[in-house]
Amino acid sequence: MLSIIKKETTPKISQQFIKTITKRLMSSLTVIDREGKKNKLEFDEGMTLYEAADEAKMKNVLGTCGGNMACGRCQVYVKQSDLEKLDPAEEEETQTIKDRSFKPQPNSRLACAMLLTEKANDIEVTLAPLKGKK
Ligand code: FES
Repeated sequence: MLSIIKKETTPKISQQFIKTITKRLMSSLTVIDREGKKNKLEFDEGMTLYEAADEAKMKNVLGTCGGNMACGRCQVYVKQSDLEKLDPAEEEETQTIKDRSFKPQPNSRLACAMLLTEKANDIEVTLAPLKGKK
């Protein structure tokens, strides 16, 4: 009888345990889209924001150069208090924002250059406007 109980309860406990552990290990951030809607985006450490958005099929984050830091259209504004949770932008990213992005701000970053580490858990970014669009 005890062995029957063990067989029936063990998988349920294990699945719950795995769900709990997985939830704790996953990191996520908030992306505010161009309509002002907040979207949660999960990511693995070491991904760029662009890769995480691509994996989640969040196409409005993606630019037109395939994530090569050339078009400037994957620009996001990082919440001021979250900037220190990201590695600083390198020269190529800064130059692309300056030359190609629409309405750049001091807190602008490119999704394709923005590396996400565990410190980026719970940060908030807002999609920058695109030229010719609302
Ligand atoms: S996708 Fe083109 S600059 Fe990021």
